[in-house]
Amino acid sequence: MNRHDRVAVVTGGSLGIGAEISTQLLDDGWTVHVLARNAGAYANAGHRSCRTHDVDVRDSRALKAAADDVAASAGQLDALILCAGIGYPTPLSSVTRDQYDELFETNVAGAVFTAQAFAPLLRDGQAVITVISSIAGRRGFADWSLYCASKHGLEGFTASIRDELRPRRIRVTSIQPGSVDTPSYDHLSAEEKAEFMEPATVAALTVQAIQLPPEAVVEVLFLNNAVGDL
Ligand SMILES: NC(=O)c1ccc[n+]([C@@H]2O[C@H](COP(=O)([O-])OP(=O)(O)OC[C@H]3O[C@@H](n4cnc5c(N)ncnc54)[C@H](OP(=O)(O)O)[C@@H]3O)[C@@H](O)[C@H]2O)c1
Repeated sequence: MNRHDRVAVVTGGSLGIGAEISTQLLDDGWTVHVLARNAGAYANAGHRSCRTHDVDVRDSRALKAAADDVAASAGQLDALILCAGIGYPTPLSSVTRDQYDELFETNVAGAVFTAQAFAPLLRDGQAVITVISSIAGRRGFADWSLYCASKHGLEGFTASIRDELRPRRIRVTSIQPGSVDTPSYDHLSAEEKAEFMEPATVAALTVQAIQLPPEAVVEVLFLNNAVGDL
């Protein structure tokens, strides 16, 4: 396959980790479709190989329409990166049903129905689905029960579609970063984020895993902060 023919869809590709993944793929010659509620916020939205789609991953019909758009312009896909996600603390004593619905609709249902909409476009024998999970998909953290539960659910989904898509030789990777300095942590001080990773660090390993030859797969990549759990 010609390097310039490679096409990726990145949900949550406008900011933070997803934006860095989008940028590194563009730098490597990929065509990148960025999906977010405000995809135009992506700093490289004007790049000649970038297309943006304003989509809320909680809206299954919008996801299907975006998949139809991508199919019409690109035909097949080489990588689907599921990065759209949200997180915030939810101490048990004050957990609300609205928080539960928001976190699970975005982090779990959003990934499920994005994967469903785009899976038919993935190139057999070649393509990769990369799920940006979290250290919170491996262990629990006090006060973060709903976020951790959503990421554990995402891990179960990821492990299951890995086996389901294996007959098509579509590879499925879970990336589990520790704490990363992205806009989602803009409310923290520089001191509080001193030990956080840069999004570019996570993106570099993610893009390397995406670009492995088709006979190899990174199934799970746990990338923690050097100081340990934050
Ligand atoms: N930062 C960390 O420490 C860290 C650590 C481990 C894992 N993660 C995971 O990495 C992923 C990205 O996190 P980040 O820190 O880079 O977050 P971020 O900077 O807040 O970016 C989140 C991205 O997701 C998009 N998004 C959010 N809700 C969406 C929705 N309903 N529909 C479509 N797009 C949506 C946002 O765009 P719009 O707002 O325009 O929709 C944005 O592009 C998340 O899944 C997160 O759980 C983050």
